[in-house]
Amino acid sequence: MNDKELRRRDLLGDCIAKGLLVAAAPMASTRLFALWQQAEAQAAKPTPADVLGPFYKKGAPDVSVLRKPGDPGFPLRVVGKVMNTRGEKLPGARIDVWQADHAGLYDVRGYRYRAQLALGGASEYTLETILPGHYADRPAQHIHYLISAPGHKTLITQAYFATDPFFEGNPGRNYAKNNIVGNRELVRPVKLFEQGAPHAEITFDIILEKA
Ligand SMILES: [Fe+2]
Repeated sequence: MNDKELRRRDLLGDCIAKGLLVAAAPMASTRLFALWQQAEAQAAKPTPADVLGPFYKKGAPDVSVLRKPGDPGFPLRVVGKVMNTRGEKLPGARIDVWQADHAGLYDVRGYRYRAQLALGGASEYTLETILPGHYADRPAQHIHYLISAPGHKTLITQAYFATDPFFEGNPGRNYAKNNIVGNRELVRPVKLFEQGAPHAEITFDIILEKA
C-alpha cells in the first residue's frame, strides 16, 4: 500500500469514526469501509493526455462530416461522448479534432479534416472521416483532440488505432514503441462494417477531470 492509499484509508476511517460516512442499514464498519473503497475504485479515470503537435489551428468549422465524396482513404466513423469521472455526460462540451489526410498531410491553409464541434446538451459526437494516413514524424495513425467543458480541465489528447501496422498486431506490447503513444488506453479497437458502404469505426469516449 502506498502513502497516498494510506492517507486515504486514514481519512475514510476518520469519516466513519465521526459519523460522516454512515451505513443506511446496520453494517459492520469494516464492510462499510470496503464498500466505499470499492465505489471509489470504480470511478472512471480521466482520459490520458497526449501532445498537441504543430498542426493545431483555431477556427475549424462545426461539421461532423469531414470527408467529401470521392476523397481517397478508407471511410471511418468515430463515435463517443464526453463525461466526468462519475460517468455522467457533460453538457456544453466542445471538441476540436484534426487529422492528416490519407497521404499523411495536414491541411495548414484551409480546414480539411478539421472540425470544432459544440456538443450542447447531448454530449455525444459522431465524426464521418477517413483513416488518417501515416507521416514520418509520428508514424502511428492518429486523430488529435482538444476537449473542453464548463468546470472541467481542458484536455489535449489523441486517438490511435489498434489495427495500425505500427503496432505489429500487438498494441499491448508495442504501444510505447519509439515513444509515439504515451498510454495504451488511447489505442482503440477498430470495428469493420461491410454492409452498405464499408467503413471502419472506433469509439473514443472522453472523461474530463474537474477543474
Ligand atoms: Fe499529428
